[in-house]
Amino acid sequence: MTDLSHCAVMKAVKQQQANNQSHLPDKRQVAASFSRAAASYDSVAELQRAVGTELMARLPEITPDRWLDLGSGTGYFSRMLAARFPESEGVALDIAEGMLNHARPLGGALHYVAGDAENLPLRDGSVELMFSSLAVQWCSDFASVLAEAERVLRPGGVFGFASLCVGTLYELRDSWQAVDGMVHVNRFRELAHYQRFCAASGLQVRSLDVLPHVLHYPDVRSLTHELKALGAHNINPGRPGGLTGRARIQALIAAYEGFRQDKGLPATYQVVYGVLEKPAAV
Ligand SMILES: C[S@@+](CC[C@H](N)C(=O)[O-])C[C@H]1O[C@@H](n2cnc3c(N)ncnc32)[C@H](O)[C@@H]1O
Repeated sequence: MTDLSHCAVMKAVKQQQANNQSHLPDKRQVAASFSRAAASYDSVAELQRAVGTELMARLPEITPDRWLDLGSGTGYFSRMLAARFPESEGVALDIAEGMLNHARPLGGALHYVAGDAENLPLRDGSVELMFSSLAVQWCSDFASVLAEAERVLRPGGVFGFASLCVGTLYELRDSWQAVDGMVHVNRFRELAHYQRFCAASGLQVRSLDVLPHVLHYPDVRSLTHELKALGAHNINPGRPGGLTGRARIQALIAAYEGFRQDKGLPATYQVVYGVLEKPAAV
């Protein structure tokens, strides 16, 4: 390859990387956003409670020596895991120091570890159960999350996760789209991506399916306040900057009213539940 064509290829690769990156939230922003939300999170975490409880119910009957709560947040499910497995050693891991600081005094896990699901600071084959509720949708590289799960699980160990896929918050996304066509809602992976990545991982898929959860709000402001309190408001690159003008908010409210149901304004979450198992050693 000539120098010139090599340069052109490198430029195209860099451009492709830049395009890919532009669809991903920045990890430091994710950590900072969740750290800021630690104090308000539990008061508005109705969906998170329902999803984590459903995921708990889907776990197979195992008694792990050590479990890992991946993306443990305020530690609600670390405490549930500790109650379910009183003899086991628990590790709560989160990328947001603020969440760990909030969770630590409330107990549940033995260890509170700052770390990234895509690059776990844990030894190979060191846990029997990985539980992760509503965290891996924040990871841009889901294949790395699965590879790390396979690495840190012992043979026969289980990775149970709940995450979000396309269709989540579609009412809010479509309403904003009608106002200005901009990105106001975090992007979510397609179900087919979860299926492909899980099938290609070294883990066996015991189950993988999607269930919609629909919450209702009296008005748009209640929904957007809740997303902010959860730390889950839009932090995508490409989101609009600057102030949101009164006229645009009024237009958003009018567009969202088109979705109103008897119970209020719906917000749909498409939740993917996966239970994977590391094959036992032969
Ligand atoms: C919506 S909260 C869920 C918390 C908890 N699992 C629950 O269900 O209440 C998502 C959590 O994932 C954490 N998180 C996001 N990206 C992460 C990553 N790459 N590695 C570890 N934790 C991450 C966030 O800091 C946040 O605490």
